Amino acid sequence: MTSSGGEKELFSLRTSGAALLHVNIDLFEKRFLAQAPLNATLDALAFNLPDSYLHPSVQNQIAIMVYSALNSPTPPSARYALKLLQAYSKLVESTNSFVEDDDFMMTLAQTIAACKNLTTGDPDLLCYECYKSPNPSLLPSSAPLAIRIAPFHNDVGLRCWEAGYFLAEFFLHFPDLIKNKRVLEFGAGVGLTGLVCAGSPLLNCPSVHMTDYTPETIANMKHNVLINAEWLGEVKKDNVTVGYLDWTELAGEKSVDAVSFLKKAEVLIAADCVYDRDYIPHLVAATRKMLEEGEGKVAIFATTFRNEKTFELFISSLQSYSINYEELNVPEGGLGEKYEIFDRFYIQQRSEIRIHKFTL
Ligand SMILES: C[S@@+](CC[C@H](N)C(=O)[O-])C[C@H]1O[C@@H](n2cnc3c(N)ncnc32)[C@H](O)[C@@H]1O
Repeated sequence: MTSSGGEKELFSLRTSGAALLHVNIDLFEKRFLAQAPLNATLDALAFNLPDSYLHPSVQNQIAIMVYSALNSPTPPSARYALKLLQAYSKLVESTNSFVEDDDFMMTLAQTIAACKNLTTGDPDLLCYECYKSPNPSLLPSSAPLAIRIAPFHNDVGLRCWEAGYFLAEFFLHFPDLIKNKRVLEFGAGVGLTGLVCAGSPLLNCPSVHMTDYTPETIANMKHNVLINAEWLGEVKKDNVTVGYLDWTELAGEKSVDAVSFLKKAEVLIAADCVYDRDYIPHLVAATRKMLEEGEGKVAIFATTFRNEKTFELFISSLQSYSINYEELNVPEGGLGEKYEIFDRFYIQQRSEIRIHKFTL
């Protein structure tokens, strides 16, 4: 199968001399590669004019896109691709039209075959979400940012959470919070937020040390740093490091490296780390330890607001450790299209995430 190439963004199709149809294939591809919620990905097709998504040329574009992604070194989940192809076929059939494109049928058959050996909800299933740069001044355009995830694993560090995406977008919108600063990240999970801090030409953080505490999460995060070497570029690829740091045992032997990064860092960041009531006092104590290691240090957390009691405990722990906190305002109406880069907002929406800045 070969790509038909050419201009994909808002390409136009002339149908039997009738209306000019517009399909936003780029938006569809962006959401597909990010493994966005299926309905959001499908919605992208009917972005401009309803029904233009039925055209055989669109079917062919979809086939090529799915086939290329599944055969790339950073494939999305085959099950996601299958669900998307099936949902698209259903959509076409619901209008009494047919999927006519041979490439589409072949890709569908291959995707079904690829899914045969997969167990539903397999914790060992690994796949990638990929993000092409929307704007080279925000994110590098040398390669897509590729993040490996294990969507069904019960280790929470093996997928990216909504607050992690949002904190990255927030920094891109308000770069002065972090620009050119040495960064330490707590509970970094798959590493997306820290990678954006280091890789973005706008943020340009000269050192980003991403930490977590389970062996699986740390190994996967290291993989994500390695696989994004081209995205980071020759100059920046060594600016990102990964290490062990458990909030509950900062005094322990295993945390010696982490403590040295705690001293060096100017900004501490954390996304979606306020959720387990037992860990909150440790998280706050570790934050205090970083802040007291020098003048002018700040911490910036993105917290998904799930449970009022948990959030109250967090605030009262901050008070008991004499940490000042300030909620940073998100502009009314959100960050705006330019900054809403990550399309995987499944459960929580951006509006449910709060950003706080902490100082002593
Ligand atoms: C909900 S995930 C958020 C991951 C990532 N920041 C994101 O936004 O996608 C919480 C992270 O905190 C880590 N974590 C939980 N308890 C921890 C502890 N005691 N010490 C260090 N990390 C911890 C988990 O392993 C996980 O990666």
